[in-house]
Amino acid sequence: MRLCFASNNAHKLDEIRPLLPATVQLLSLADIGCHEELPETQATLEGNARQKAQYVFDNYGVSCFADDTGLEVAALDGAPGVYSARYAGPQRAAADNVAKLLHELATQPQRQARFRTVIALVRSAGEVHEFSGEVSGIIAAAPIGHGGFGYDPVFVPLEGDGRTFAEMTLVEKNLLSHRARAVAGLVAFFSDAEELAQ
Ligand code: IMP
Repeated sequence: MRLCFASNNAHKLDEIRPLLPATVQLLSLADIGCHEELPETQATLEGNARQKAQYVFDNYGVSCFADDTGLEVAALDGAPGVYSARYAGPQRAAADNVAKLLHELATQPQRQARFRTVIALVRSAGEVHEFSGEVSGIIAAAPIGHGGFGYDPVFVPLEGDGRTFAEMTLVEKNLLSHRARAVAGLVAFFSDAEELAQ
């Protein structure tokens, strides 16, 4: 099965590729000739994931899925949430976003947060499926580690061993992460669909 992942984020592609069964031929946006920025103007993670996947399906005619992820910080009433990418401005710079987050939490003893990912799959016209995954954690006092991307250097998952996501290997992050959990829903959907077809 040919399936496009509607994202220009190479880190996400690296995380997702090993989680999919060998029967899936994963295509990047470049593979299908899509080089423009995808629309992402909705007010929810669900809306953005759907919008990106639907755009690729409508314009390129390939089955595809998109993810949208937000970091929800309890002491900030769920911010940055759906605005995580542009938290510190339209330049979407990870270092600026992390710096702003640490500044906002500077005097805050409550540092609970969670990552939430929503995946939307568009397989055929009018057929949209959604899968979600989340992981709870704590925002560290300062960035640690060089792996991963985005907010990974300041996110310490509660189910981990005290390291940030950026200190983990890709395999270790995938054992706990919001995105891996959402992808597990997608994979289960495909194996159920295959069973039904037999
Ligand atoms: P989006 O899903 O690409 O829109 O991501 C929203 C924001 O969250 C961006 O700033 C990403 O860098 C960040 N982000 C998304 N997924 C992760 C992750 O797995 N770890 C850390 N940051 C992430």
